[in-house]
Amino acid sequence: MNTASQPIGVFDSGIGGLTVAHALAKRLPNEQLIYFGDTAHLPYGDKSADAIRYFCLKIGKFLLEQNCKCIVIACNSAAATAGQVMREFFGNSVPIIDVIEPLVQHVAAQARYRKVGVIATKATIGSGVYERRLRELRPQSLDIAALATPLLVPMIEEGFFKNNISRTIIDAYLANETLQGIDALLLACTHYPLIHKEIAAFYDNKIDVLDSNTVAAEAVAAALTRLGLLSTERAAPHRFLVSDYTDSFDYTARLFYPNEKFHLELHNIWEERLS
Ligand code: DGL
Repeated sequence: MNTASQPIGVFDSGIGGLTVAHALAKRLPNEQLIYFGDTAHLPYGDKSADAIRYFCLKIGKFLLEQNCKCIVIACNSAAATAGQVMREFFGNSVPIIDVIEPLVQHVAAQARYRKVGVIATKATIGSGVYERRLRELRPQSLDIAALATPLLVPMIEEGFFKNNISRTIIDAYLANETLQGIDALLLACTHYPLIHKEIAAFYDNKIDVLDSNTVAAEAVAAALTRLGLLSTERAAPHRFLVSDYTDSFDYTARLFYPNEKFHLELHNIWEERLS
C-alpha cells in the first residue's frame, strides 16, 4: 500500500531526464524525487530494444526498493521500447508514467497542426511509437515526419550547446527535406530541451517547438491526485543518483541547478563482485 510521503522515482539514461525532474519539482514542490541516470549505459538510443528493456527492468526494481510510490520514465527511448514491459512488471505496484503519451495527447489536441516533425534517438524513431499514436488520435488530418538525430545526445552530454559545433549539427539535421513545411516540431528526447532555443532559432521562432516536460509533470500530478498520493510536505531532499560518475556528467548536471546545492551520487546498481 503506497502512501503520499513516499518519493517519486524518475529515470533516464543520463542527465537528459533532469529536464523532466526540473518540471516535476516545479509543478509538485512537496514531492521528494529520487532520480536515477543510467550513465553507465548511456546512450540508450543506439542500443537494442532487448538491452534497453533489461536496463529499465533493473532500474524499476531499484526504484521500488527505494520505496518509490510512482515511476516516471523520463526517457523517450526507454518509454518507447520498455514502457509496456515495465507496466507488466511493476504496474500493479505503482503507477508508471512516461513522457510520450502526455506529449502525444497534447499535440493531437491542436487542431491547427497539419504536419508535425518528430526528432528523437534511433530507438524512439525506430519504434514508430509517435507516428502510431498520433495516427490513432488524428487518423486523417495530420502528417508526421520523423527523423532520428543520434548525434544530439552525445553532443549535449558533453556540454556542447550554444556554440558553433552544436549549431552546425542542429542545422544539418533540421534542414532535412522530410521536415519541410512542419507546423510544430516535437522534441521527443528528454535531452533536447537543453537545445530548445537553438532549435527555435533555426525556425526564427515561427513554429511551435514542443517538449514533454510540462505535460508530463501535469500527467504525474493528475495520476497522484487520482490515487490520493499527492504529498503535502516534502519528506526529504531530492536525490540524484548515477550508475557511473564522471566530472563531465557532474558539470552538465549542475547546469540545471545553478543556484542550488546540487550533488550527484554514484550508485552503481550494475556492480557485481568479481571474486
Ligand atoms: N533522454 C533520452 C530520450 O529521451 C535518451 C537518450 C539516449 O540515451 O540515447 O530518449
